[in-house]
Formats: sequence, C-alpha cells, structure tokens
Amino acid sequence: MNLLLIGFRGTGKSTVGRRLAERLGWTFVDADDELETRLGTSIAAIFAERGEAAFRDQESELLVELLAGTRCVIALGGGAIVREQNRAHLRGAGTVVWLQAEPQCIVERLARDPRTGSQRPALTGLNRMEEVVELLRVRNPLYAESADLAVVTEGRSVDAIVDEIVCFLQTPPRNSS
Ligand code: S3P
Repeated sequence: MNLLLIGFRGTGKSTVGRRLAERLGWTFVDADDELETRLGTSIAAIFAERGEAAFRDQESELLVELLAGTRCVIALGGGAIVREQNRAHLRGAGTVVWLQAEPQCIVERLARDPRTGSQRPALTGLNRMEEVVELLRVRNPLYAESADLAVVTEGRSVDAIVDEIVCFLQTPPRNSS
C-alpha cells in the first residue's frame, strides 16, 4: 500500500512527505516534480502553452501510474482531488492524509517557496489571498471526502506532524479483531 498526501498548495506535502518516507523506509515521490521531469518542462509552462485542462490530463495519467506502486509516500498536487475520477482512484489505493493550513499561512509559505514561480501558476483571476480562500471553499469538501486523516500543519514541527501520521498508521482500525 501507499501513503498519499493531499491538501492545498503550501500545506507542506513535499516537506512532510520526504521526512515521512525516510521514517518509514519507503520511497518518496513528489507528483509535481515527477510530472515536470517526465514532460521536460515546468508546470507553469504547461499551463501557459496548453492550458489547465491539459495539465490535469497529464496529472490524472501520472496518478494512476504512481498508485500502482507500493510502499511509496506520494505528495499529490493540490488540485489532484478536483476530478472525481482521481478521487475514485485514491479510494483503496492506500492511506490518504490531508494536510491543512489557514489561508494566511498558505499565502506566506507560497511567497517564500522558490518553486512557486515554476510549479504554481495562477488558477483564477483573483489575487493570491482571494484565490486561496475561494479554492479552499470549493476544495475542502473534496479533500475531506478523500481523507482518512486530517492533520493541521500550522505552527508545528515537521517531526510532530510525521509522528502523528506514523501513529495513525500503526493504530489498528477500531473494528479489527
Ligand atoms: C495545483 C497545485 C500545485 C500544482 C499545480 C496545480 C493546484 O501543486 O500541481 O500548480 O491546482 O492547487 P502543489 O500543491 O504541490 O503546490
């Protein structure tokens, strides 16, 4: 099985995923990095040259492939849960963990992260803060329906977040005998 990290841009999926994979002795895959490597171009360039729908098609195709692996911690792009078909693929593919942060924190993290320019093109005509608030309103129910566990990342160390996820993985389901 795999461990899938979902959540909005800037919620820590790549940072937490890398540390989690080290802790579990599993392979870490960042879906955005993998997509850029395979296509030999940046996500920003794909959006600019071919549009968001073309990016989503590539993202969906890669997701199916990545989910076929085992013992992988996979950090998905923040919008991977938007397509129903992708959410269906996530069901039964592993443990899905939703990383959360408030809009202010997300906007600050995105401004600091050097990957924002190449991997995070604008998704709406709104300013950054308005975009985050609006997309969280639309996406939060989709993250919620996909997740086995929701973890707040704001104001916490990476190790504390990883501890919480590892503890969840080690706890047997309530109805197991
Ligand atoms: C996107 C999030 C990005 C990347 C692309 C689209 C989104 O991934 O896949 O820019 O729709 O929220 P991160 O969540 O890793 O930034």
